[in-house]
Amino acid sequence: MAASRDAEIRKDVQTYYGQVLKQSADLQTNACVTAARPVPKHIQEALKNVHEEVALRYYGCGLVIPERLENCWILDLGSGSGRDCYVLSQLVGETGHVTGVDMTESQVDMAKKYIEYHMEKYGFQTPNVTFHHGYIEKLEETGIKNESYDIVISNCVINLVPDKQQVLQEVYRVLKHGGELYFSDVYASLELPEEIRTHRVLWGECLGGALCWKDLAILAQKIGFCRPRLVTANLITVQNKELEGVIGDCRFVSATFRLFKLPKTGPAKRCQVIYNGGITGHEEELTFDANFTFKEGELVEVDEETAAILKNSRFAQDFLIRPIGEKLPTCSGCSALASKDIITDPFKLAEECGRAKSRCPPDGAGGCCDTISS
Ligand SMILES: C[S@@+](CC[C@H](N)C(=O)[O-])C[C@H]1O[C@@H](n2cnc3c(N)ncnc32)[C@H](O)[C@@H]1O
Repeated sequence: MAASRDAEIRKDVQTYYGQVLKQSADLQTNACVTAARPVPKHIQEALKNVHEEVALRYYGCGLVIPERLENCWILDLGSGSGRDCYVLSQLVGETGHVTGVDMTESQVDMAKKYIEYHMEKYGFQTPNVTFHHGYIEKLEETGIKNESYDIVISNCVINLVPDKQQVLQEVYRVLKHGGELYFSDVYASLELPEEIRTHRVLWGECLGGALCWKDLAILAQKIGFCRPRLVTANLITVQNKELEGVIGDCRFVSATFRLFKLPKTGPAKRCQVIYNGGITGHEEELTFDANFTFKEGELVEVDEETAAILKNSRFAQDFLIRPIGEKLPTCSGCSALASKDIITDPFKLAEECGRAKSRCPPDGAGGCCDTISS
């Protein structure tokens, strides 16, 4: 029964993204559009190199370009026409690799059509991008091996899959130890009622299948990931009278989270860390998530889990990490952060960000939540 409903949903979604939508402008709500947020300059440059036809069929809801990408192997779940893959392909460089998987044939065809164009543009001798037709909840069928990727990304896709646990389990399987899932998706403020979950247009528009945000942490823990780290959040204003009537009081947010897979070692200790400024595009400061920003050369106190992430991930080379009490080399302007409340609720973050934006000068200068859309 559940299997046949899942198959029916997949067929509807394939029709929606393969035939109904031709470009981003055809969407009926503003759920699947890039959230406004500051886009680092090196990513803006990389975005400019993506072919127009690929960019026109972009249906993402966030920026899924994490930091320290040189030489990384990245897997994009639900890669669509390939926009994010082509941005990442530049940033991992010729010795890295990006794999896109999508179940809608016309999306995969569109992505493949421009491989040569992009490789020539980037000056790569051998393509470092591959696209596969397949289901993200069944990555084994596509030949994706255990512990083969440094990073998995996904942009507005997991909400479209009925069995989200299966997707996250597959991600855990294919990630190397220390690897991360860095993904943007739509979340609901509550468990969605049947009327919304069975509404075909709402499902296709990335709202009907949205997880209640609190359930992400439960799923992550069940599978073995660290606590979800909230990076950014933007409230979704549906702006479609008919659909708003069906949605009622339910609220939606697009949010970017990072989920790390760490080796199972003993409990970590609180630590003091200093960022060495070595990450391209983030030399002055690294905004790791909504709770931690590391300024180059500044001493920061972090909790046990953040310490474990920094020690065991690709970020290890960028930090000097010491247990609290051990003396670190001093630097001018060092400051230790007092422990504080960690923000995990994307609705709360989006509201705070909205308030900060309204305090910005009209020209957007000032850097609070300045808007540069991609
Ligand atoms: C909202 S679009 C986002 C596409 C792309 N990430 C982007 O940012 O443009 C959702 C995509 O997910 C794909 N998709 C949905 N469910 C999937 C599944 N179970 N397996 C593979 N791809 C899926 C659809 O075919 C579609 O291309």
